[in-house]
Amino acid sequence: MIVLKLGGSLITLKHKKFSFRRKVMERLAAEIGDYKGKLIIIHGGGSFGHPLAYEYGLNNGYEDERQIDGVVLTRLAMERLNDKVVSALLDSGIKAVSLQTSALAFCRGGEIERLNLEPVKRFLDIGITPVLYGDVVLDSAKGFCILSGDRIAVHLSRTLMADRAIMAIDKDGIFDRDPNITKGTKLLAEVNQHNYQEVLRSLGSVHGDVTGGITGKLRELWLLAEDGIESIIVNGLVPGRLQKALLGQEVKGTRIRVAP
Ligand code: IPE
Repeated sequence: MIVLKLGGSLITLKHKKFSFRRKVMERLAAEIGDYKGKLIIIHGGGSFGHPLAYEYGLNNGYEDERQIDGVVLTRLAMERLNDKVVSALLDSGIKAVSLQTSALAFCRGGEIERLNLEPVKRFLDIGITPVLYGDVVLDSAKGFCILSGDRIAVHLSRTLMADRAIMAIDKDGIFDRDPNITKGTKLLAEVNQHNYQEVLRSLGSVHGDVTGGITGKLRELWLLAEDGIESIIVNGLVPGRLQKALLGQEVKGTRIRVAP
């Protein structure tokens, strides 16, 4: 079983609120359709989730009642994005069902406290691909929080013992320095126990991304690697890369694993 996360900046234009990249999503759906094994898909929030979550300070948890508007609007925006993603998957022949993530997942202090795996497992068992997403969820310490799709992907990979996880984003992978700031950066083919700390130090934080951007992603994936599950980050904007990653073929990207 493979757990696939489709990054929000891949399927939406991150700096244009509510802009869905339909053509990109249609191609990704076609590539996903070529993989015939068991699959769980999780997608991010991109310009549907992040601007609202940021505007209302949702990741700080409950501070005042004005945030409640932000909670309901973010939930609605995520439902709308999810509808577009699932529709594209169905159009390309993938038997997918949406699982409303805020009804399955509960956090404490931003960490997953409980995630009801039952529907995920049972849909998988009957040959259906469950689709979850980064979402605003209830939090027993903070009232609510933003649960990132990355965190969900790592949690599901670990608890359901995925063969591997694939993170499709809008970049080639992880670079030795932040490519948005520095020129002449080099793509890292692999992050392992020998370079993890150094890579982490060299990555900057990302403004406006409430779930930590690429640094947050790497931290999550490293925990997964330590549990023996390998992941790969690939550029979903380049045709064919996601397909190759799904089929287990050699592909440009960054592998995160504990090296032998
Ligand atoms: C964030 O999910 C969800 C919300 C902001 C509501 P992610 O953190 O997984 O989203 P991307 O992939 O970074 O856009």
